[in-house]
Amino acid sequence: MADTSAPLTAGSTIGTWLEHPVGGPLIRGLLSASGVGDDALAPVSGLPLQQLVVMSQGQMPQSVVDDLVLQANGGVAPEETGVATGWVEKITPGRFAGQTVIVTGAASGIGRATATRIAREGGRVVTVDISADRLQEFAASVADAEVVTLAGDITKQDDIDAIVAAAGARIDGLANIAGINDDFSPLHETSDAMWDRVIGINLTGSFKLTRAVIPVMLAAGTGSIVNTASEAGLRGNASGNAYTVSKHGVIGLTRSAAFMYGPQGLRVNAVAPGGVATGIPMAASPSESGSARLTPFQRTIPSIATAEKLAASITFLLSDDGVNINGAVLPSDGGWSVQ
Ligand SMILES: NC(=O)c1ccc[n+]([C@@H]2O[C@H](COP(=O)([O-])OP(=O)(O)OC[C@H]3O[C@@H](n4cnc5c(N)ncnc54)[C@H](O)[C@@H]3O)[C@@H](O)[C@H]2O)c1
Repeated sequence: MADTSAPLTAGSTIGTWLEHPVGGPLIRGLLSASGVGDDALAPVSGLPLQQLVVMSQGQMPQSVVDDLVLQANGGVAPEETGVATGWVEKITPGRFAGQTVIVTGAASGIGRATATRIAREGGRVVTVDISADRLQEFAASVADAEVVTLAGDITKQDDIDAIVAAAGARIDGLANIAGINDDFSPLHETSDAMWDRVIGINLTGSFKLTRAVIPVMLAAGTGSIVNTASEAGLRGNASGNAYTVSKHGVIGLTRSAAFMYGPQGLRVNAVAPGGVATGIPMAASPSESGSARLTPFQRTIPSIATAEKLAASITFLLSDDGVNINGAVLPSDGGWSVQ
């Protein structure tokens, strides 16, 4: 049961807002204006209200959250008492000390949270993203850490070569996290452009970078690789055809490499996130038929995680505590995969 006596802030969970005698009607009013019932918010009830700004990708501006906080508190914004996610990341000092780890997709969402965690735990992080601006912004947020930024496209061989060169003679870890969504289209509606882009980034990009990194790890006789699959790598009803194929492919990439290189000291695993509150862009015009077919199943997602929760799973597999794990596909999804 949420604490309804504390003042509502942007850090209060959506569940707390919904249960609050003043906050509840405000949120329901906002929802009904957009034509949705509060059941749509059930999977995100454990997330702070603030997270809606990131997740809505501009549809819900910061001013809406600021206004809600003012309205819920008689026009006076209360002091923010901290983000109430119910779970707080715990840093293990020195867990990655002396290690170099490459993280792709590091300018946003799961990649950023993973790069941040490794940097704060003493690792040297080679951060890669196609967005140079957001990558610089990330680097500024961890200014005291050892962070190399490399703006590049993981589908381009020249950029892959630059990433490996920037990492240097030793690469202890690689987290392939960069990825994009599709347009939820079923197979017969999937355009060549959508297929090529989604398979190119999600699958071929991870393949190319891993191919370049493995010889460095083999020379050292050690190395840990974590690929980012998805619930869509485990089932057929989580996304469109191209994304589902790409993430099933990521699982094949993982298991084959784990088998091939295990005897030489490498570990290759995958994490399969469920719903995660990031800014991952949705297609401008999603397939109507695909969306209609998927929506009832997406509504059953038990909970939406923060990016930091995924970073916890990914860094566990990357770290020495993953010592006995090779070829695993770890669902990090709040239990979605067992439904
Ligand atoms: N958010 C979710 O609900 C969810 C669920 C399951 C799996 N995933 C997977 O997790 C990974 C991270 O997703 P996220 O939600 O953090 O998304 P995000 O959009 O917040 O972050 C992805 C990052 O990858 C970068 N990127 C895209 N194409 C690139 C390229 N060609 N080269 C280099 N960088 C590139 C983007 O600029 C972005 O910064 C993806 O592989 C995604 O498929 C996400």
